[in-house]
Amino acid sequence: MNEAGLQSAGDPLEIFCRYRQRRQALFSMLDEHAYYSRPIPLRNPIVFYQGHIAAFAYNALVRQASHGPALDPQLENLFARGIDPPEGQSTSRARGNEDDIWPSRRAVEHFCQQADDAVATALQGLPPGPSPQREAAWRLLEHEAMHHETLMYLWQQIPIADKQAPSDYHAHTAGNPPSPSMVHIPAGEVQLGIAPSQRVFAWDNELPEHRQTVPAFSIHRHKVSNHDYRRFVECGGYEDPRWWSREEHHWLESKQIRHPLLWLKREGQWWWRGMFAEFPLPEAWPVWVSHTEASAYARWQGMRLPTEAEYQRATFTEPDGSIRDYPWGHAYPNTHHGVFDFTSWDPQPLATHPDGCSAWGLHDVVGNGWEWTCTPFAPFPGFQAMSSYPEYSADFFDGEHIVLKGASPVTPKELLRPSFRNWFRPRYPYVFAGFRCATGAMS
Ligand code: AVJ
Ligand code: FE
Repeated sequence: MNEAGLQSAGDPLEIFCRYRQRRQALFSMLDEHAYYSRPIPLRNPIVFYQGHIAAFAYNALVRQASHGPALDPQLENLFARGIDPPEGQSTSRARGNEDDIWPSRRAVEHFCQQADDAVATALQGLPPGPSPQREAAWRLLEHEAMHHETLMYLWQQIPIADKQAPSDYHAHTAGNPPSPSMVHIPAGEVQLGIAPSQRVFAWDNELPEHRQTVPAFSIHRHKVSNHDYRRFVECGGYEDPRWWSREEHHWLESKQIRHPLLWLKREGQWWWRGMFAEFPLPEAWPVWVSHTEASAYARWQGMRLPTEAEYQRATFTEPDGSIRDYPWGHAYPNTHHGVFDFTSWDPQPLATHPDGCSAWGLHDVVGNGWEWTCTPFAPFPGFQAMSSYPEYSADFFDGEHIVLKGASPVTPKELLRPSFRNWFRPRYPYVFAGFRCATGAMS
């Protein structure tokens, strides 16, 4: 927090222009074929997301908050919504769409330009002080920030030959994995959620702010590395029914899953499928896996995943009970604090950003991959759906989504507040997420 007790938030127009540029740079990496492809079968084709980000912003600020005119009702409707459809159902089938409904790339780009220009103009004229327009401004910026990351899950699945690497692409693969060790954290309080006086914007699932007592527990100092996880894979962990439920084991077999999604085996050697290149498995990188795979590893270790409250305590509290804005303290995030905000397209070796350690000595706790918790995504006591976007969280309080905390290399720094909650289905393998294990009695 800054002196006024508010998170420093920045200027909405400046952030919007920065995001708009990054969005254009990301889409310009793709050729025509990739642009209309659907690299993750459960999500929409890529063309949708370019329209979606612009349409969401236009709808929030120009139409909803400012009662402005429609730009192109048909395209606005086409691009209105498309997240995480129910398992086993593609969005096109769910909506009765066919694959050839998508407009030309030129038409989408033209639509985006008009919508973006109108949003920029509205941001320029934002009235000072709280207003529906200001709420819409933060909401559309946060929405775009999250989608920059969800775009990268799609880009990761596009064949390397179909995307143009930035000229300075470089993966930091060298380094030795840290040896696993546990940090003991005594019983104490955490803050979950965020108070109105502490924020400019928060999603409804971060409210209301409340405290919780966390019993003593121990937690890994480091995220589990590829090196650590390789032992589980190589001793037959994926085939051993002891580490999986019956349904999970059936799922592994039916999908032929034998290792993490981004690993591949070539002539007996493990490789990692990076964003723009493949290289021998970097042992010092965090492993990125689904919640189901993370839980199996933890079981094999005789441990479990941490709860959301345990993560919160290990990341944002100090031994004297005070609370930090970031693991490292109150300083605004920079490149020394961790691997986030597009400073890297892939993970980096663990423990190479010691300036970002938490008060308890946890490394890489915000950045280098989200961390799976064992907490189902659910409303905090007293939850109220936000009136401007009531389905944002509430549609996912179904017991089938799990809370993730932290950040990945491609999480924009504006999302790094302690109360931010991410969520995905436990078997969703595309998230840039790893984990650490914990032990102790849960509350
Ligand atoms: C919060 C990242 C799970 O991408 O599914 C984007 C964010 N919601 N558009 C998602 C979101 C609506 C959401 N996550
Ligand atoms: Fe969205």
